[in-house]
Amino acid sequence: MKILAIDTSCDDTSVAIIATEKPNSKQQLLKIKILSNVVSSQIKIHSPYGGVYPALAKREHQHNLAPVCKKALQKAKFLNLKVKTKNEKPQSKIKKLKTILNRDELLLETTEQFLLKYQKPKVNAIAITNTPGLEPCLWQGINFACALSLWWELPIIPVNHIKAHLAANWLTLTGASSKIKNQKSKLIKFPAIGLVASGGHTELIYMPEIGRYQLIGSTRDDAAGECFDKTARILGLPYPGGPSLALQAKLKIKNQKLKIKLPRPMINSGDFDFSFSGLKTAVLYNFQSQKKSVRESKDYKIAMAKEIQQAIIDVLVEKTLKAAQQFKAKSIITGGGVMANKELRRQLKIQNLELKIPFFVPKKSLCLDNAAMVGAESLLSNTKSKSWQKIKASGNLKL
Ligand code: KG4
Ligand code: ZN
Repeated sequence: MKILAIDTSCDDTSVAIIATEKPNSKQQLLKIKILSNVVSSQIKIHSPYGGVYPALAKREHQHNLAPVCKKALQKAKFLNLKVKTKNEKPQSKIKKLKTILNRDELLLETTEQFLLKYQKPKVNAIAITNTPGLEPCLWQGINFACALSLWWELPIIPVNHIKAHLAANWLTLTGASSKIKNQKSKLIKFPAIGLVASGGHTELIYMPEIGRYQLIGSTRDDAAGECFDKTARILGLPYPGGPSLALQAKLKIKNQKLKIKLPRPMINSGDFDFSFSGLKTAVLYNFQSQKKSVRESKDYKIAMAKEIQQAIIDVLVEKTLKAAQQFKAKSIITGGGVMANKELRRQLKIQNLELKIPFFVPKKSLCLDNAAMVGAESLLSNTKSKSWQKIKASGNLKL
């Protein structure tokens, strides 16, 4: 079973080809191999705005989808030029293609050229993120996926992006990372607790078995990644805020007298919900209360970065471990862009030592948005394919 997967939920355009030997397996030892996983980042474009600018992101997806798809097929060695035949332009298909892409001229042009030039690849299905995310962006990926589905006569599988972040753990287990040598002791056992911390989501998820997800807690306002991004912006650090703050937090402070204490919102709330907007406000008030010479100093930025990072880590670690204990989890799995944070990975691992619950985190590039995880999730959940006419984008559908 081979899947061509697409993700355009936010600002990255990604296409991947993944393969598995057990397409319908409900077993834990699902072997998923990444044949290619191409991500075209838009960080440079959105950086001046301090966040993702949806109209620009949409246009970039239109630009990037066909070239990124070509690259993914090429890397997987699935790209073959068409052999020229008399009927080079199947008019009825072109007509349908124009209906699917009638509002996206640029995407129509690049997709049509791509489909006319290359052969149908040896994949069995197309997986596409249809929720949650920025709707104009989701639609670009969906329309492109529908065009491929129509042209190549392949089934199309809608995938939830949050579930996909957790599915990334199965990619690390088998294909992407060879570091895990003793795979037997590293099986993901159930029930499991999943933590997804990204730019748009902070969610704790109970998984009674593979491919089944129950939301047990989520953020009531800002997501953890959003908090990193917004507080970095207050401090004048570049977008995306997570990596910028992490970099600052590693540096040493010269002025040891500079002490900053920020709140750990909802850390003892007794449930599994989160809230990060109060932390952002506390950063803003602290920043505004400082003299210009202090708030613009290197030391202030470092001290703030350390404390913001630690406040977010404290809340995420505490709630995840509490959930794991309460739900008698046999594994903890994690995902999402914030899990790329080295300090968070380290502290979650250390704090979990006492509980001795096997802990999993995808490798850094697979924590960030990518299409391989979307392909993995289409296999894990064993989601039924739909006809392309029925795939709709939904900005904020829950699990
Ligand atoms: O999962 P992701 O790539 O996209 C969404 O689905 O949102 O996550 C992006 C988020 C951004 O908010 C970014 O600041 C954060 O992940 N992030 C980090 C790190 N790398 C990315 N946060 C903390 N530390 C990092 N090293
Ligand atoms: Zn994401």
